Amino acid sequence: MSNFSRRQAISLGAVGAAGVAAAMAGKKAQAQSEPLSQPEVNPDGRFAGKVVLITGATSGIGEATARAFAAEGATVHFCGRRQELGQQVAQSIVDAGGKATYQPADVRNEGEVKAFVDGCVDRYGTIDVAFNNAGIVNPQAVPLAEQSLEDFENVLKTNVTGYFLSMKYEIPHLLKNEPWGKYGAKGVIVNNASVSGHIGFPGISPYSSSKHAVIGMTKCAALEYGGQGIRINSISPGAVNTPMRRQAYENQGLSPNEPLPAPPNIVNRANTPEEMADIVMLLASTDVSYLLGTDIDVTTGMLTGLLTV
Ligand SMILES: NC(=O)c1ccc[n+]([C@@H]2O[C@H](COP(=O)([O-])OP(=O)(O)OC[C@H]3O[C@@H](n4cnc5c(N)ncnc54)[C@H](OP(=O)(O)O)[C@@H]3O)[C@@H](O)[C@H]2O)c1
Repeated sequence: MSNFSRRQAISLGAVGAAGVAAAMAGKKAQAQSEPLSQPEVNPDGRFAGKVVLITGATSGIGEATARAFAAEGATVHFCGRRQELGQQVAQSIVDAGGKATYQPADVRNEGEVKAFVDGCVDRYGTIDVAFNNAGIVNPQAVPLAEQSLEDFENVLKTNVTGYFLSMKYEIPHLLKNEPWGKYGAKGVIVNNASVSGHIGFPGISPYSSSKHAVIGMTKCAALEYGGQGIRINSISPGAVNTPMRRQAYENQGLSPNEPLPAPPNIVNRANTPEEMADIVMLLASTDVSYLLGTDIDVTTGMLTGLLTV
């Protein structure tokens, strides 16, 4: 661990920093549930009649996105491994008048991913939008030669194989759809990458490798299926206040009520999961029909240039 100071980890700002910080405390960043509020549900909202599939919506960005789509009238089907949390999130959306179901699935497991995707189609007849989001960061913030093969493979299996399997089983269903929207898209896929998919941070070689792979996979799939009406893009968040990020700092002794350190971005604050949900919905909307195979930088400046004080 030696080579990385707490200050360096905090200065990273991104989700990588969460993992780095947690690892420095010798603890794995467990994403605990923080209550996200359910926006008012408009059954006739801009995604009324659409079916949205989300991987990893038991907390964080995925949960906020599930709530946001449901608020806009979509039917949401999501997975995650923590069953109690999954049921709670789905129930609270339903209690607010929205449509959501949770199906347990581990994205590292091909059979479970297939069952999850098919489960959505069996229940709702189709998938219009998929947000592939389930991800983890390596628990030990150490230089590459000190990373364990087990951690490396687990990160890659979750963040790369998980996205591969998700798209593998989503795409055939999307191809069966009737074209919808201004330019006749049959479906939209948004993959959650990261600032770490563009640049490196010390201590997170497994995570950064995986997120670079997500962006490459997104580009290839976008070219392969764009001509058939499926728009595939990715987003790259910088630092987002999710349970994973907060827990990482709490592991270092920060009290739950203390504000998290600001990330090195131009607004001097972390983004909210809801802000990421807005970007996902923008990419899923017909307003950006010509966006294909691109990665949207939502780091508020972390990738724009060197930010110095
Ligand atoms: N927070 C940031 O600053 C930031 C920045 C850039 C990118 N991102 C990306 O955003 C995505 C969401 O992360 P988050 O920050 O919202 O953290 P989070 O709150 O920990 O959410 C991660 C989600 O992924 C799910 N997940 C993890 N492993 C899984 C598996 N094997 N099978 C199924 N689901 C799994 C978790 O559910 P279970 O634990 O219930 O399985 C949880 O719902 C990740 O891909 C992350 O890399 C985050």
